[in-house]
Amino acid sequence: MRCKIVGLLFFTFVYATICVAQKKSNNQKADSVLRLMTLDEKVGQLNQYNDDNQATGPVTIDNNKVDQVKNGQVGSLLNTIGSDRTRSWQELAMQSRLKIPLIFGQDVIHGFKTTFPIPLAEAASWDLPAIQMSARIAATEASASGIHWTFAPMVDIARDPRWGRVMEGAGEDPYLGSLISAARVKGFQGLNLGDTNAVMACVKHFAAYGAAVGGRDYNSVDMSERQLYEIYLPPFKAAVDAGAASFMNSFNDLNGIPAVANNFLQRTILKEKWGFKGFIVSDWGSIGELINHGYVKDTREAAAAALMAGTDMDMESRAFKNNLAQLVKDGKINIELVNDAVKRILIKKFEMGLFDNPYKFSNIMREQAALNNPAHQAAARTMAAKSIVLLKNNNNILPLSKNYKKIAFIGPLVKSLIENKGFWDVSIPGVDSNFIVSQWEGLQNKIGPGTSLLYAKGCDIEGNNKSGFSEAVSVANQADVVILSIGEKRDMSGEAKSRSNINIPGVQEELLQQLLATGKPVVVLINAGRPLVFNYTAKNATAILYTWWLGSEAGNGIADVLFGDYNPSAKLPMTFPASVGQIPIYYNHFNTGRPALDDKNHIYNSSYLDESIFPKFPFGFGLSYTNFSYTNLVLSNKNMNMKDSISVSFTLTNTGKIAGEEVAQLYLHNKHASVVMPVKALKDFKKIMLTPGESKKIQFNINKEKLSFFNSNLKWDAEPTDFELMIGSSSEDIRLQASFELKK
Ligand code: BGC
Repeated sequence: MRCKIVGLLFFTFVYATICVAQKKSNNQKADSVLRLMTLDEKVGQLNQYNDDNQATGPVTIDNNKVDQVKNGQVGSLLNTIGSDRTRSWQELAMQSRLKIPLIFGQDVIHGFKTTFPIPLAEAASWDLPAIQMSARIAATEASASGIHWTFAPMVDIARDPRWGRVMEGAGEDPYLGSLISAARVKGFQGLNLGDTNAVMACVKHFAAYGAAVGGRDYNSVDMSERQLYEIYLPPFKAAVDAGAASFMNSFNDLNGIPAVANNFLQRTILKEKWGFKGFIVSDWGSIGELINHGYVKDTREAAAAALMAGTDMDMESRAFKNNLAQLVKDGKINIELVNDAVKRILIKKFEMGLFDNPYKFSNIMREQAALNNPAHQAAARTMAAKSIVLLKNNNNILPLSKNYKKIAFIGPLVKSLIENKGFWDVSIPGVDSNFIVSQWEGLQNKIGPGTSLLYAKGCDIEGNNKSGFSEAVSVANQADVVILSIGEKRDMSGEAKSRSNINIPGVQEELLQQLLATGKPVVVLINAGRPLVFNYTAKNATAILYTWWLGSEAGNGIADVLFGDYNPSAKLPMTFPASVGQIPIYYNHFNTGRPALDDKNHIYNSSYLDESIFPKFPFGFGLSYTNFSYTNLVLSNKNMNMKDSISVSFTLTNTGKIAGEEVAQLYLHNKHASVVMPVKALKDFKKIMLTPGESKKIQFNINKEKLSFFNSNLKWDAEPTDFELMIGSSSEDIRLQASFELKK
């Protein structure tokens, strides 16, 4: 009895202390809580477990998670979904001594119930407000389902399409990647982290994960610091500047030091140089994996190395939980390092408003309304159309006429549902997570009463079975036009989905060959999570739409583009190689001392004897149903000094017969500098809608910032030199050129 009364008094005291702290800043509130915490409770905050719902990494069985939550030994759970389930875990956390709320994390990578196109596809839209909106909607749905925190955006620059995770990022360019990174952070976090529909962003994977050797997932990375700063870090920096609440480190080692134990990355760059105030979570089990890397001998050393290097939360390794307290007691870890990590996490919990109301995200009414919101589906449909890249359009076969009597829709992906969602699909227990418009349904919705749609599967995505070819050919023979939907399986790209051969799998291109032999025009839809190699299709198909994975509204989005209700405006965010042997191939390469100018001459120049040096489709490429002309380039000045700026203008005209959007791209090249510079680097772009015949004056501004780079001392600065300015419709289709000089 006496015990109970003492206990009650203690809780009243704790509660009162935290309540008094309400008037204080979140920083002070976190300090007040920190002062009350035991060492065991502090370590608890740094511990994150997977719930038993689903796993996104190797599972560790742990039978007493419930007790640990009740004892304040867990700071966060991942893969706990649904207002009911999050509420019941939170109720357990509220039984702990200090009632510190849990945060629920989830990979909400491209939508929640309403699935949006995979991030690489969205990047192809070059449409920042639309990308931000997609993240906003994902956050609205996820937060209504109890999620506080998404493990997104993934901002890893990637130059190697063998790496399956290219699907999660924004492609190869640091400038485009940085803008998209910021847009996604803002979209997820909304106006204010304390809002009920805001989720914390987690920017990942810090850092250089996209440069894994050979494109093999989890592999090592070895790169110069200059390349790291110039190419791989900018999207992370942009995310910090946009207010990202958290970071996740990466599985790879960087120049021999695993990222999770990398003091230089996490403390020197992120926390000190960039002033990042949020917290860093490890990747799944990556603290424990320090042993496999051969960096430490056991989990005790792993825990010490990770914490000292700035990792604040341990996802699924149990290295912090099992070792940190003892490391502190043994004097091996300074308690201040633990306090700093805990405080970073507590501050976010305060900012999210979870101390005021731990259940604010677990509201079944809100969940039902948010997950079935037709406005979200409409936005996903528009985003799907915006993400589709028109790669080829012989004889302007597209947009398809609505007067065709018979259209053959053939291929293994025509009627599939779940494939359209791509790799990171969140399965939501209790709701219809498979809601999806198939490509077949999308076309059915679109065609008029005078058109009939014929179907044949033709073949599977993989394997050598050609028994369906004859039916496909006979269906094609009956039709006016053929649409063929082929590509990868959705789980051929994504985490641990690296491929050494990135062709269109199986006999799908052979099926195309048979269909073309009928003499009918064949429009090919290529579904994939990465740039693929498809030389036969590129050469022979009548038209090609690269559809990636478009999400719940794939069918409608594809139909909108096929029939011209949306005029394609997307541009490739990654270079498409002509063969695997060209990889890594990217537009912003150096010139070398012996550049090759064409594929004919191989005498002592930088080329291949047996392959072109040019990509199949370059970065920034994408056609439209209309044409655009670029004229009247005017530079306000041909010289500028460091404090000046130059205004660049030109006239963009829609010279075709259909309204459409163009992404006009501005590239710069420093003719000589103290370090070798890329042949061109994207520095600005504008996406402009023009009606037929309409012209607009487009303006760019060039200032010192746009001309700066990391010099040989890794200082961000500009150097006086001559610059070449290129404006075009892709990185290779340069329409306007000029030069100017930057003076001291
Ligand atoms: C992935 C992360 C992901 C985490 C949690 C890891 O395997 O690399 O990107 O956020 O699992 O699902």
